This record gives sequence, C-alpha cells and structure tokens, in this order.
Amino acid sequence: MRGFNHIIHIRMNIRTRKTIICGVVISLSLLYLYTNRFLYTSVRDKNISLKLLLAAAITAAEIGGSEVIAVHNQVKFEIESKGKTKEGLNDLVTEADYRSHCAMYHSLLEVFPSITVISEETSKNCDKVVVSNIKDNINVLNDYDIKDEIINTDDITVWIDPLDATKEFTENLLQYITTMVCVAVKGKPIMGVIYKPFETKQNSSLFWSWTNHAISKNLQILHKLQDEKTPILIISQSHAGQIYNVAKIAFGKDVNIISAAGAGYKFLEVVSGNATAYVHMTAIKKWDICAGTAILTALGGTVTQLFDQQLISFSPSDSKVLQWGLLATMSNHAWYLDKFSNV
Ligand SMILES: *[C@@H]1O[C@H](CO)[C@@H](O)[C@H](O)[C@H]1NC(C)=O
Ligand SMILES: *[C@@H]1O[C@H](CO)[C@@H](O)[C@H](O)[C@H]1NC(C)=O
Repeated sequence: MRGFNHIIHIRMNIRTRKTIICGVVISLSLLYLYTNRFLYTSVRDKNISLKLLLAAAITAAEIGGSEVIAVHNQVKFEIESKGKTKEGLNDLVTEADYRSHCAMYHSLLEVFPSITVISEETSKNCDKVVVSNIKDNINVLNDYDIKDEIINTDDITVWIDPLDATKEFTENLLQYITTMVCVAVKGKPIMGVIYKPFETKQNSSLFWSWTNHAISKNLQILHKLQDEKTPILIISQSHAGQIYNVAKIAFGKDVNIISAAGAGYKFLEVVSGNATAYVHMTAIKKWDICAGTAILTALGGTVTQLFDQQLISFSPSDSKVLQWGLLATMSNHAWYLDKFSNV
C-alpha cells in the first residue's frame, strides 16, 4: 500500500509541475503579446504624418467656419423673424464660439488622439455638437505635390482659435472674422491655417502654409514684395489710441495707420502688402497669433515680441499669453524694432 501511495504522490507532483510550467509559459506568452501590442500601438499612434495633420488642420478650420456661419444665419433669422434683442445676440455669439471649438477640437483629436490641442474655448457643451469625421480628407491637398514627414506627437502642439474677432461678430463686421489652426513642432510654428468663413471673393477665404513644404496658391499670389517707403502700421481697433501716440514718436508724421479687428485678418493684410507691419502693444493670446506667425515666417517674414524683441515659443508648457507686444513684418523687421525701442 505504501508503494501505491508513493506512486500517486509522484504522479501528482509531475502533474503539478506540468501545470506550473504550463502556467508560466502561458503567462509569458501573454505578457509578450501584450507588451508587443502595446509598444506597437503606441509607436504607431505617436508617429504621425504631418501631411495628414495639415489636411486635418485645413478641414478643421473649414468646419469651424461652417459652424460660425450656421450660427450667424440663425442670428439673422431670429432678428428678422422675432425681433431678437442684443442680449439674445450675445448668447448666440457664445454659441458660435463653442460650436466652432467643439467641431474643430474634437475632430482633430478623433484623428490624432495623442496630440496636444490648445484652444481658446473649453469643451463643456460639446456633447450637443456633431463631430465630423475628417480622417480621409487628404484630397484637400490634391493640387499640391508635398513631401511628407513623420513626427512624434510628443513634439507637436496644435493651437486653435475657433472664432477670432468675437466682438465684430456681434457687430456684423464679418470681414474680420477668421477661424485658425496652427501646428507647432518643439514650440516652433510650422503650419498655419487661416480661414475667413464670410469671404465671398473666389480663392480668398482659405490660406495655409507648411514651412519648407508647401504654401496655398492664393498666398503665393497674395504675397507681393513691397517697396513702399512709408510705413503702414496695422493695429487693433480696440486700443488704437495708445499706438497712435507711440507711432508718431517712433516714425514722425511719415506713417500711415490702419486700425482693424482680428489678428488673423491683420496678419493677412501684412502678407498682401496692404500694411507693412502688424503692431500690438498690450498682452495678446497665443492662439490669436500662432497661425499668422507660421504663415508669415513660411513666406520669409518675421514675427517677434515688440519690446523684448524675442522670437515667440508655442510650446504647451509656455505661457498662453504674450506679454511683450507683437511685431510682424514681411521685411525691414530690425528697422521697425529699432524705431519702437527708441520710444
Ligand atoms: C482660383 O483658383 C483656381 C485654382 O488655382 C484658378 O483656376 C482660378 O483661376 C482662381 N480664380 C481666381 C478668381 O483667381
Ligand atoms: C488688400 O487691399 C485690397 C484693396 O483695398 C483689398 O481688396 C484686399 O481685400 C485687401 N486684403 C487682402 C488680404 O488682399
């Protein structure tokens, strides 16, 4: 009987050992498969095509713009049919802002879940807004021959402005309104999209650039070299007075000043040569100026802070507000900086 017991004991031991070995092998295989899959997906998601991102940025600016137009039409309808008051108007502006934000922000993150997107707005009401699928929209670049580049999303910050010139939106000054998307790599803006949703002139509503890769055809045409001797400053309507005084001291009476609204609008006026410098003296938000900075620099222009003369970093860790003013020019940048430093 003892021998029999002994045999059973050994059998069980063998069986236990087999089970343990089996278990270890299965666990190791699972671990191997899991890590592999994990590494695979994270690498795949984190390295993205900048060309796809450009296409997505362009589409995002356009769908944000169509949300703004939709709300505008609603406002027009409410005023004409119901005699809505000014208060009601302001509510609808908030609505335009957040609907454009939701459409832009969430459609970008849908395609690139691991990128950092910084917006003027927050997503608190976004469950009401339908997010477009902008995954397969590369055809917006069909007319362009662009070499692609693959970049790790850790280096990318996307800045969006869902509605630039909000105040003018309530005042029906629609020419100033833009939606903007900007892509910064390691803090440097390399792609800019400025969309004017209410512009009806052909080829004049959508402008974009990707430094050293491609520039939208209308920008190539718009940008003319200026041999204008008299400076034409474009400045913000909301604090024009201060700059008038400073400009008179800096340039004497040989200066023209245009006041306008919307940062996106003003950058394009500098590109077209309608103005020779965009000057801003108070604090300004970075989502207002990222896309314009990208477009101007792609075309050979320069954008710096006005008073400390530094280039502007668009990293997510930097301040969202620019404190030291803004100067944007297509040429003679140093000359302008010098004029203002003497004030
Ligand atoms: C608009 O752009 C298209 C394509 O580049 C061009 O064929 C057309 O002539 C342009 N129209 C105007 C009014 O510039
Ligand atoms: C520049 O000025 C011209 C003429 O006033 C105007 O038609 C155009 O819209 C302005 N802006 C741009 C970006 O071309």
